[in-house]
Amino acid sequence: MQSVELILAGFGNVGKAFYELVRFRRMRILDRYGLDLFFRAVIRKKGWICSPDELGKGIQPSTRWDEMTGRECFFPPKKSGVWVECTPSDIHTGEPGRTNILRALDLGWHVVTAAKGPLVADPAALYKKAESRKRKIRISGATAAALPAIDTAIYALAGTEIQRIEGILNGTSNYILTRMHQGLIYEEALREARKKGIAEPDPSMDVDGWDTAVKLLLISNAALKQKLCLKDVFVEGIRGLSREELYRQSKKRKAVKLLGTYLAEKGRILLSVKPEALDGDHPLYGVVGAEKGITFHTDTMSRITVTGGKSDPGGAAAALLKDIINMYKHCIIT
Ligand SMILES: NC(=O)c1ccc[n+]([C@@H]2O[C@H](COP(=O)([O-])OP(=O)(O)OC[C@H]3O[C@@H](n4cnc5c(N)ncnc54)[C@H](OP(=O)(O)O)[C@@H]3O)[C@@H](O)[C@H]2O)c1
Repeated sequence: MQSVELILAGFGNVGKAFYELVRFRRMRILDRYGLDLFFRAVIRKKGWICSPDELGKGIQPSTRWDEMTGRECFFPPKKSGVWVECTPSDIHTGEPGRTNILRALDLGWHVVTAAKGPLVADPAALYKKAESRKRKIRISGATAAALPAIDTAIYALAGTEIQRIEGILNGTSNYILTRMHQGLIYEEALREARKKGIAEPDPSMDVDGWDTAVKLLLISNAALKQKLCLKDVFVEGIRGLSREELYRQSKKRKAVKLLGTYLAEKGRILLSVKPEALDGDHPLYGVVGAEKGITFHTDTMSRITVTGGKSDPGGAAAALLKDIINMYKHCIIT
């Protein structure tokens, strides 16, 4: 049995889902994997840290924060475990996750993150620090959550050349496009997605293609050991599409999807996110509603597609947990 301490930064939708999942699954994980997951602290913006017992008792923000001298106090001396980053994603500054993750790595903690910001804004600093401290960073929670995109690329496709990646990586835009194919105009489909809790109040990151671009970038960099940046991605969203255009494509037995594409061609790498009309025999044609999917085109394993994977807080929490378990049980990815 191995005891694994967790520090959870961010206790919003994903953080809470992760906390509940670990509590619910704790005995099963111990039984099946020999890992005893234990929360050392939970951190929110308003600044409280506490043990799970205190959480249950509803300890209020800041009651203990003021007594603390700084972030160091989260880290027990001579112990390490996993820092779980679930704070908001700022893709320009990477904060607050960037500072949190660097500090955690510095003190010898592994990191799993649902926050994309730090991975896009300053990946070099994070991975350099991780390497120098011999710690791991796992990012499934930030890359299409429950869809096992990175695992598939790294484990299942080991030894092949990935020549092209195509992904429907954003559930909100896929839901809107599916409903537009069924006859709704863009505004109606968006309103419906909001009502169902699929679209956020401000859906710009999703419908303008940036969420897909970030995920495509992170998956491509992880799968192909690249150091591409967001500015390398051509990005076009779905706002300009009309119901009539989608109807025309439906008549031709095509489905319009917001597709993220990585393509290595003639020594050049092309990354793009844009609406594309897929033929009926394309493996991602049937990915509808808030579902996602990814296809890897390889030289020796042909075309491999994975679809599904919830992109909600529960799916993100499950991806974080998966990364922690695999980090301790299969230490082959460094
Ligand atoms: N929601 C999803 O379905 C989903 C799926 C995959 C990935 N993600 C990513 O997961 C992350 C969390 O998403 P969410 O939906 O859980 O967000 P959220 O509900 O807004 O929660 C954010 C949490 O972070 C805390 N926080 C903010 N600034 C902080 C700081 N400086 N230090 C410590 N804690 C801080 C907030 O504290 P307070 O509680 O005190 O305000 C809150 O608890 C985001 O990066 C998001 O992109 C989300």
